[in-house]
Amino acid sequence: DGIVVRAGEETGLLRGAAPQQQHMVPADGDRVAVRTLHIEDAPRFGWRGAMLDSARHIQSVDEIKRLLDAMALLKLNMFHWHLTDDQGWRIEIPEYPKLIEVGSCRIPAGDAGIDPATGKPAPYCGYFTQDQIRDVVAYAAARHIEVMPEFDVPGHAVAAIASYPQLGVTGKPLPVSNEWGVNSNLFNIEEDTYRFFEDVLGEMVKLFPGRYVHIGGDEAVKDQWIASQRVQQQMKAQGAKNEMAMQGLLVARLEKFLAAHGKRMLGWDEILEARLPESATVMSWRGTEGGLEAAKQGHDVVMVPSSVLYFDYLQTHSNSEPPGRPSLIEMQKVYAFDPVPDALPADKRQHILGLQANLWTEHTRSFARAQHNLFPRLAAVAETGWTPKARKDYAGFLARLPAQLARWRAQGVEYART
Ligand code: ACM
Repeated sequence: DGIVVRAGEETGLLRGAAPQQQHMVPADGDRVAVRTLHIEDAPRFGWRGAMLDSARHIQSVDEIKRLLDAMALLKLNMFHWHLTDDQGWRIEIPEYPKLIEVGSCRIPAGDAGIDPATGKPAPYCGYFTQDQIRDVVAYAAARHIEVMPEFDVPGHAVAAIASYPQLGVTGKPLPVSNEWGVNSNLFNIEEDTYRFFEDVLGEMVKLFPGRYVHIGGDEAVKDQWIASQRVQQQMKAQGAKNEMAMQGLLVARLEKFLAAHGKRMLGWDEILEARLPESATVMSWRGTEGGLEAAKQGHDVVMVPSSVLYFDYLQTHSNSEPPGRPSLIEMQKVYAFDPVPDALPADKRQHILGLQANLWTEHTRSFARAQHNLFPRLAAVAETGWTPKARKDYAGFLARLPAQLARWRAQGVEYART
């Protein structure tokens, strides 16, 4: 009969119906009544994402495909792939082979960095070939998931600088970092280094057909730029009045490059601290304030506040939790998060594209641990991304969760049992 059920509408059709009504079994058996049920449904937000850090600890292509399968089941549609950082460079760039030869390996700190049999250094290595990346991108696309690569500049740069010391401020060789936290090494601002940025982004543009490329921009402490006469000279020559303005010029240049290749640039909320091209999208991680400010200014925003959506934080008090950042982010808190700040004027609300869970992997050495951290909390992110705010209901979510856990068990998803 062409019955239409719209999202958010109450209907007794399925909920109250007796099984024989649902299956439309005809009473007389000689005539079959066929009815079509149309369901009109649409997500609240267009950006329903998950980020995986493959730099601190890497995952296999098969593992990433399993994550993409699980994301698709939750109707998540953005996979943010963190591929470069101080502790490892994970993407093959043919013009710069040392990024793999040098940058994809580190000697882990402590006992993990020593082969007990020989006493020699035991490197931790890994990277994705371009063929593997194309494979992941196609697998994601078949599941309606866009893959957004991240190349983090001008900080989180040690693996690249270890590969090509001329990219750094001091020019001195240094090892790929084996320590977590904010590292003081930055890229320099020479023309050759800009060319390196554009070469890497040029490869990313070819490999990733999606709309967005993430250029990082976070945690770039400027001590090295301040201390370097050469950088200060260059800043003057390029017209930057201070270091943050310099980062802004760099970001603006990358934005122009990406726009010329049909891509939108996205960065962590620090990029707001300088003049920002209007088309830049901001990922608000230091709370939601950056996102609020960015949206007020007319930028698109993805909400990823670390206090709610960083899934390297522990999810229960259980002693059985694997290692993680020490404070607690329980599922209920994840579910309660609303990406649209109350203080945002109504005419700016369309700038909030959505939300995303970020899985940093300093403490997450295995895919089993990654899944533990992601699930079931990722289901709460998915529901916030899809369901109209007025229809959200944590008790209802919990009541539906056992069926989801059963699906995950059938799919082999190792969700947290804690
Ligand atoms: C970040 O967590 N440094 C974006």
